[in-house]
Amino acid sequence: MRKQRIGILTGGGDCAGLNAVIRAITKHSILTKKAEVIGIRYGFEGLIHNDTVSLTYDSVSGILARSGTILGTSNKGNPFVYGPAHENVSRKVLENYKKLKLDSVICVGGEGTMEIAHNLMRIGINVVGVPKTIDNDVWGTDYTFGFNTAYTIAASLMQQLAGTADAHGRIMIVETMGRRAGWIALYAGIASGADVVIIPEVAWSLDAVTHFIIERHKRRRFTVISFAESARPKDVDKGQFSDLGISTYIAKMLERMTGYEARAMILGHLQRSAFPTPFDRVLATRYGYAASKNALSRKFGVMVALNRDSIVNVPISKVAGKYRYVNSDHHLIETGRATGVCFGDK
Ligand code: F6P
Repeated sequence: MRKQRIGILTGGGDCAGLNAVIRAITKHSILTKKAEVIGIRYGFEGLIHNDTVSLTYDSVSGILARSGTILGTSNKGNPFVYGPAHENVSRKVLENYKKLKLDSVICVGGEGTMEIAHNLMRIGINVVGVPKTIDNDVWGTDYTFGFNTAYTIAASLMQQLAGTADAHGRIMIVETMGRRAGWIALYAGIASGADVVIIPEVAWSLDAVTHFIIERHKRRRFTVISFAESARPKDVDKGQFSDLGISTYIAKMLERMTGYEARAMILGHLQRSAFPTPFDRVLATRYGYAASKNALSRKFGVMVALNRDSIVNVPISKVAGKYRYVNSDHHLIETGRATGVCFGDK
C-alpha cells in the first residue's frame, strides 16, 4: 500500500515547543509505517516556493527541548495576500502540494495560521491544525503550547526585578508580550506576586494605579507592575504615548503623578526564545501525536485542542477569525483581587 505523505509547517512567530510537536508528529507517523513526513520550510513560504526537507526518525531525535523551530517560520507568507503587491498565489501552493504528492499538511500556528489553513482547505488542501502561541489567544483550546514557557520566564524575571525595585524604592513596570490578550501578564503577575496587573481586558486608568501606589508606599517602598503590551489606559489618548512606547510612557506618567522614581523593562523575545518547560514539552507532544493520528486517519479540517486535560478536535472553520481573551470575571482575576492585587480599575 502507498505510504501517505504528511507535510508539517510552522507558521507565525516562533515559541517554545515547536520542535517537540515536529518530533512527535514525525516519530509517530514513521512508527506506524504508514507515512513519510515532509518538513515545509519557513511556514507557508515553503509551500509557495517548494522548499522542503524530508524528516526521518533520527533527524528529529534530540530536539524535544530545543527552542525555535528546525523548519524555520515566517509571518509574511500568506499565499492569499502575498508580498508587497498582495498577490493571490494560492494556485502555486496547490500545484506544489500536488507536485509533492502530499496527502495533508499539518499547520502549527496561531490564529493567523489557522485562518490561512482554513482558506487552503477551501481550495482543496487537506489540513490539520495545532494551536501555538505564547499569547494563549487561540480560540477553542484551554492552552496553546508556548504560553506556559513564556509566563514562566516572565514570572521569574519579574520576581528578580522586584529586588532592584525594592533596593531603589522604585516603581518597576514590566512589559510582557500579548499582542491582543493579557494572559501572559495575568499569569506572570500572579505567579511572581506583582502588586499591580494591567491587561487589555480590564479597563484601567492611571489615576487608579497612582492612588494604589501612593497608598502602598505608605507601607512598602516599591511597586512591581505586570503590564501587558496591548493594555491602554482609558484616561490617555494614543497620540500621547505612540512615540515613547507604552510602558516607558506609563513609567514617566507614574513618576510625575506619584512622586516616586519609575523604570520600564520590556521582556520582549526572551519570552519566546526559552527552552520549553516540561508542561509545554508534554502538551506539544500530545498535540503532535493527536495531529498525526488525525492525518493518518484522514480526519481533516480540524485543530487539535486541550479541553479539561483531554485532547479533542475542533473544526478549523470555527477557530479562524476568532481570539480567546481573558474574561473580566476570570477566576485568576478574582483570586488576584482577593489577595490584594490592583487591576487599575478601582
Ligand atoms: O504573537 C506572538 C508575539 O510574540 C506577540 O506576543 C508579540 O506582540 C508579537 O508576536 C511580536 O512579533 P515580532 O516577533 O514579529 O516582533
